[in-house]
Amino acid sequence: MGATINKHILLAVSGGIAAYKSAELVRLLRKQRAEVRVVMTHAAIQFVAPLTFQSLSGNPVHSELLDSAQENAMGHINLARWADVLLVAPATANCIAKFSQGLADDLLSTLYLAATCPVYIAPAMNQAMWNKAVTQENITKLISHGVKVIGPGKGDQACGENGLGRMAEPSEICDILCATDPDRLSLAGNKVLISAGPTREPLDPVRYITNRSSGKMGYALAHAALKAGAQVTLVSGPVSLSAPLGAKVIRVETAAEMHAAVMENIAGHAVYIGAAAVADYSPLVMQHEKIKKSADLTTLTLTKTKDILAAVASLDKRPYTVGFAAETHELELYAKNKLSQKNLDMIAANWVGHDEGGFDSEQNALQVFWKTGQKTLEMANKNQIAMQLIDLIADCMSEK
Ligand code: PMT
Repeated sequence: MGATINKHILLAVSGGIAAYKSAELVRLLRKQRAEVRVVMTHAAIQFVAPLTFQSLSGNPVHSELLDSAQENAMGHINLARWADVLLVAPATANCIAKFSQGLADDLLSTLYLAATCPVYIAPAMNQAMWNKAVTQENITKLISHGVKVIGPGKGDQACGENGLGRMAEPSEICDILCATDPDRLSLAGNKVLISAGPTREPLDPVRYITNRSSGKMGYALAHAALKAGAQVTLVSGPVSLSAPLGAKVIRVETAAEMHAAVMENIAGHAVYIGAAAVADYSPLVMQHEKIKKSADLTTLTLTKTKDILAAVASLDKRPYTVGFAAETHELELYAKNKLSQKNLDMIAANWVGHDEGGFDSEQNALQVFWKTGQKTLEMANKNQIAMQLIDLIADCMSEK
């Protein structure tokens, strides 16, 4: 764990079995020097006694909307004013639905409406409830309103099922709050869309053309942008990486699907980073039956895919547009050509096909070019490289 929080954190516990994990969360947050006050819904009190949270936080627990102990009987407003961060953990499907509808029929939902500070929710529920279209719509709506979603994780559930819906671990939640201290965030308030991973271009129902991208660079950028306070949308090709906690992830397979997902979602984003290794060519025709072995030589007819990066850069209301260049030779020359030909704000060039860095490696090195400068990011773990690149993007944006 890195930085300390040193903030007023209002922890709201709603009624799910994961409520017991939030007791540990209070302990971890206090260890990071946060001052914690706890609000519990009536359902949460069925799972864990308020006294547990009172003892751990050192403050009385609130659960009533009209609190006669508060001199102006406006406890919710006072609590909302006090909070630097509102963290709802666990956030049940019911409380997520209430937030998304703007209902205010208990202390927690009223607090959410009254809060002007950053809001984080850590959903926890049965996997079928999480996957239900209406829950996903509510989550998407809350993300679009600026709420940061932490998790949920995947695994065995208290109900005996297995899937997405487990509340993120208290240590993960605490790490995210530590790393996203609003006072230190270079991209706070900005929406960042990142593409990552390879695309797969189908030849027939069982074969496809793809490349060696693992998605690690793009996912590291998504983590770094989240840490910098951005709201992150990640459009991801097929990879075996877990979704970054707090990002909206849209999974695609082909270059055409990636193009559609980026163009449908780009509005309102301040930054676009094209870290995906998008196929330049796709089979002209996808055969609907498995291609049979016959002649010794065969020919594939390929057609150019749409250039997503160039399409984003040519929008009327364009985001700060950052491309990647993956090169096996003449790195600087090709990168600078892409910068000007695609009308980008910045390009991050990396060598591919070498022993270190590039595709499917834990490490990378970048030569970054923009209209008025350049910088070398020396070989390092992709997470470190991503943080350096995000900082550089934030600096260059503020100078623009
Ligand atoms: O995923 P990893 O294993 O971690 O590897 C990381 C990486 C090497 C894939 C990454 O660092 C990288 O270089 N990504 C871009 C790879 C690439 O496709 O480069 P390119 O030079 O062919 O394309 C230039 C730019 O145009 C890229 O930003 C690419 O996303 C974009 N492009 C390309 C084709 C296309 N149809 N649409 C695009 O938007």
